[in-house]
Amino acid sequence: QQAQTLDAIAAATTAEAVEAIRVAALGKQGWVSALLKTLGGMSPEERQAKGPQIHAAREAVTAALGARKAELETAALDARLAAEAVDLSLPAPEAPRGSVHPVSQVMDELAEIFADMGFAVASGPEIEDDWHNFTALNMPETHPARAMHDTFYFPDKDAQGRDMLLRTHTSPVQIRTMLKEGAPLRIIAPGRVYRSDSDATHTPMFHQIEGLVIDKGIHLGHLKWTLETFLKAFFERDDIVLRLRPSYFPFTEPSVEVDVGYTLVQGKRVVGGSGDAPGGGWMEVLGSGMVNRKVIEFGGLDPDEWQGFAFGTGVDRLAMLKYGLDDLRAFFDGDARWLNHYGFAA
Ligand code: PHE
Repeated sequence: QQAQTLDAIAAATTAEAVEAIRVAALGKQGWVSALLKTLGGMSPEERQAKGPQIHAAREAVTAALGARKAELETAALDARLAAEAVDLSLPAPEAPRGSVHPVSQVMDELAEIFADMGFAVASGPEIEDDWHNFTALNMPETHPARAMHDTFYFPDKDAQGRDMLLRTHTSPVQIRTMLKEGAPLRIIAPGRVYRSDSDATHTPMFHQIEGLVIDKGIHLGHLKWTLETFLKAFFERDDIVLRLRPSYFPFTEPSVEVDVGYTLVQGKRVVGGSGDAPGGGWMEVLGSGMVNRKVIEFGGLDPDEWQGFAFGTGVDRLAMLKYGLDDLRAFFDGDARWLNHYGFAA
């Protein structure tokens, strides 16, 4: 039985098989244990004769079990090491890479262009009060322009009893910056704005950049030069032609809407050249004007001493124009395929 057991141990190929053999030999019901029990019923002489044999058998089986177990463990470890070997010379798999969203990219471009012209960046809260968003911009409570803004209001007023809302434009930053920093000023204020409106060219949240210059002797010529310089830099073309149309905003007087000329190149609208050229046209890109005296007063400044111009433009629309995109909503879908298609993702 000892020879049989030793053969079985040598033939075992798994830890489970070795364990089964151990139980069959050394377990409570095992044959070695049974032999050991017989020792108690033997005469001393008999025990002296058989005892060493039985103990030797137990030792031999125990040693063989331990050796085979160790062998199997070593083999298993070798197999694992071979299977899990890391080849450090292989190139690493490429992980998908993120990229800057086109709107953020355009915001950065604009901030850079205006920084070159000496404009600092200012900001204000997206949750605004009715006074900064409307009243101080020369839109008193009954002003019809308030209704045109499709404003998102909050149900509760603030501590001063002012209606709270999501700002409908970045113009309240004009007021906040004048009140905080005084004059002279040369700032842009990029940020999110909100109106309850949604179609291919409107989303309930969109991005504007406000510009404000307050100084002495500022006139419309400064405004025109600034806008021309900025649009040429942004569209990276020298042949940008602007059309200034008289318009109306409560916070500027006079007010000017600015169109940029485009021409058709292979059926696509490309910014540049006069919009009056055959096949061409004009696209509105900006609202602007000389800051209304009342707004300068609301900003805590004396309008006889300080003058200025202001402008506001939709960042998303500028991005659409520059990159030839046609549905504004795609900007906010977060679809990586769309970003890839337009070359914004890596
Ligand atoms: N706030 C205006 C808008 O959202 C744009 C504007 C800004 C017009 C500054 C004039 C001066 O339409």
